[in-house]
Amino acid sequence: MTTPSIFITSATGCLGTSLACQLLSLNWSIHTTTRDPSSPAAIALSSLGVHIHQASWDSTKTLLNIFKQCTHLFLNLMPDFTNENNELVWGKSILSLAQSTGTIKHVVYSSGLPLPNHPDLVYTFFTPKMCQAKSEIEKMIPEFGFDSWTILQPGFFMANFLLPKVDFLFPGASTSGIFSLAYSPEDNLGLVDPEDIARFAVKAFLKPEKFHARKIRLAGEKLSVEECLRKLAEVSGKDIKGRYLTEEEVDKEVKEKGNALLVVQRMNKGMDELVDLEEVKGWGVEMGGFEGFLRREREVVEESYGRVGREI
Ligand SMILES: *[C@@H]1O[C@H](CO)[C@@H](O)[C@H](O)[C@H]1NC(C)=O
Repeated sequence: MTTPSIFITSATGCLGTSLACQLLSLNWSIHTTTRDPSSPAAIALSSLGVHIHQASWDSTKTLLNIFKQCTHLFLNLMPDFTNENNELVWGKSILSLAQSTGTIKHVVYSSGLPLPNHPDLVYTFFTPKMCQAKSEIEKMIPEFGFDSWTILQPGFFMANFLLPKVDFLFPGASTSGIFSLAYSPEDNLGLVDPEDIARFAVKAFLKPEKFHARKIRLAGEKLSVEECLRKLAEVSGKDIKGRYLTEEEVDKEVKEKGNALLVVQRMNKGMDELVDLEEVKGWGVEMGGFEGFLRREREVVEESYGRVGREI
């Protein structure tokens, strides 16, 4: 049997990198594209043996040539805040190109939990189109006729609490230790370790007959926002806390300043209920908790909160 060859989108992100490392240990051949092959993440992947091609997702000719060498596809896309249409356009184009090769037979799409269409979106650069892109892509996947396809719907990424994501989602938190929140302390998050999402993807690729045509919601642990911050403070030894904004304060931030991040938090409330942890366990993939994640990623935790004062 020839070794499988996979194209991974966004391989320089935490999920893509985890997946690349797990598949490299199985001796898979791995391809990805990046606009900047000189970035530290791209250089690190390249030194591990990942084939890095310089291209954007608009370069259909280049993508097609790479795809012709592949048997598997892992699709993971981010919203493009400069163009609300791009995520759906890229998803459709990548899937069409993959199908047209005839060599790519297996696809895993890492989507997200279905986001409700929140009325506050009108105040922000975030648009209903961006929120719907993932579900549109999910709907089109079965129509391409791949031998197997699996859709993963991960919950709240544990890595959102660490660099580089924390600076985007919770501005100021990595320097002040203070998280400004639309959540209340007892709101639960359905947390997922990106390594576990990657483990699910690997399982899906190795056992396509079991995972084909399945849509799987993922979380490893449900914890309240306050518990998350307490664990973060404990593991980092730093003074990390939440500033829980009142509804009025959130409204003001959203309506006067277009604070999209608080809208996203409002949209995320209650999303943990979409995931059934027992059902997740039933797939036989070991899922980790938040504290274990933080201890494993201790170096990144220290780097993320290096400037915050000690816990008192
Ligand atoms: C990967 O390749 C190495 C070197 O050829 C071999 O020793 C190892 O057993 C292979 N691993 C797997 C999981 O096939």
